[in-house]
Amino acid sequence: MSSSKPSVYITRRVPESGPALLAPSCQVEQWNKDDPVPREELLKRVQGKDALFCLLTEKIDEEVLKAAGPQLKVVGTMSVGYDHIDLTACKKYNVKVGFTPGVLTNAVAELTMALLLTTSRRLKEAMAAVANGTWGTWKPMWLCGPGLDGATVGIVGLGRIGFTIAQCLRPFGVAKILYSDKFENPHASEVGATYVSKDELLANSDFVLATCALTEETKGMFNKDLFKKMKKSAIFINTSRGGVVNQEDLYEALKSGEIGAAGLDVTTPEPLPTDSPLLTLDNCVVLPHIASATDKTRSAMSELTAKNILAALNGTEMPTEVKN
Ligand code: DGY
Repeated sequence: MSSSKPSVYITRRVPESGPALLAPSCQVEQWNKDDPVPREELLKRVQGKDALFCLLTEKIDEEVLKAAGPQLKVVGTMSVGYDHIDLTACKKYNVKVGFTPGVLTNAVAELTMALLLTTSRRLKEAMAAVANGTWGTWKPMWLCGPGLDGATVGIVGLGRIGFTIAQCLRPFGVAKILYSDKFENPHASEVGATYVSKDELLANSDFVLATCALTEETKGMFNKDLFKKMKKSAIFINTSRGGVVNQEDLYEALKSGEIGAAGLDVTTPEPLPTDSPLLTLDNCVVLPHIASATDKTRSAMSELTAKNILAALNGTEMPTEVKN
C-alpha cells in the first residue's frame, strides 16, 4: 500500500507517548518486542524508511544507512548517549541525528546517588547478611563504610548529569567536589565544584564518578594506571558507558585492594555474563543499565525522540539534534 505519509521504523517496544505522536502524520512500523530487533530484520525493515527511531542497543552504521536508502532523513535515538551511531556515516548520507539530553538528567543523577549510597554504606553485604542468616547481633564494628559526610567527590565529566549529581551531593555534607573535563564548566561554582587535573582528582577523591561520554578519547580510560592513582579506599562509580572502563583492570583493582569498591550501572558487554568475575566481589555492585528507568523519564525520552523525528521530517529545527 503506498502512502504519502513519511515512514518511520521503531526498533523496539517503547513508551506509547512517542509512537502516539508519530501516528497521526507518519506510517509507523515497529519491532514491538522487549528484545532487540535482530540485525537482519533491522536491515530489511529499514529499507525505504524516511526515519529510524532506535535505541542504544542498535549499531547504526553505514550498512544500516545504505540499507535504508537515500530517502532516510533522520535517526532519532531514545538515549542521551550516541556512541552507537556512526556520525561520520550519517553526515556522509545527509542523515540528521536526534538524541534525548535533559529529560533523563535527574533520573541518572538519582541512580548515581543510589550507587554512591549502596557502595559506601555496604548495602549489598548488608542485604545478603539479612537474607543468609549471618546478621547475628548488633555489632559496633560491623558493616561500617565511609559515608558521604565530609568526603571529597571527584566527577570526571561535569556536563548536565555531572552537574546535577553535584547539586544532589551538597545536602549530604560532602566537603569538596572536584571535577575534571576537557573544558571548565562556567557554572561549576554554582555547585561548589573545583576544576582540577585528572591526576589531582584521582589522588584526592574518596569517590570517583565517571559521567563522561564514551568517545575515542575516553574509551578504556579507567584502567590500571588510573586505579593506581586513586586512594586505596576510593569508591569508583560508573553511570556513563561500560566502554570507559577496562573491566579486567577494575576487577584486579577491586580484588587486590588497589581501590575500595565500585558501583556500576553500565558494563561491557551488556548484559554482563553471570560468570563475570566482577559478580563474585562483595565490594562491587552491578546494576543492569537502569539509570534512566523511571516511568516519567522513559516516557519523556520516547516523546522527545518522536519530536526530533517529526521536526526533521518537517524540515524544522529539531529540539535536540546532535550537532555533527
Ligand atoms: C542513555 O540515554 O544514554 C542512557 O545510558 C540510558 O538512558
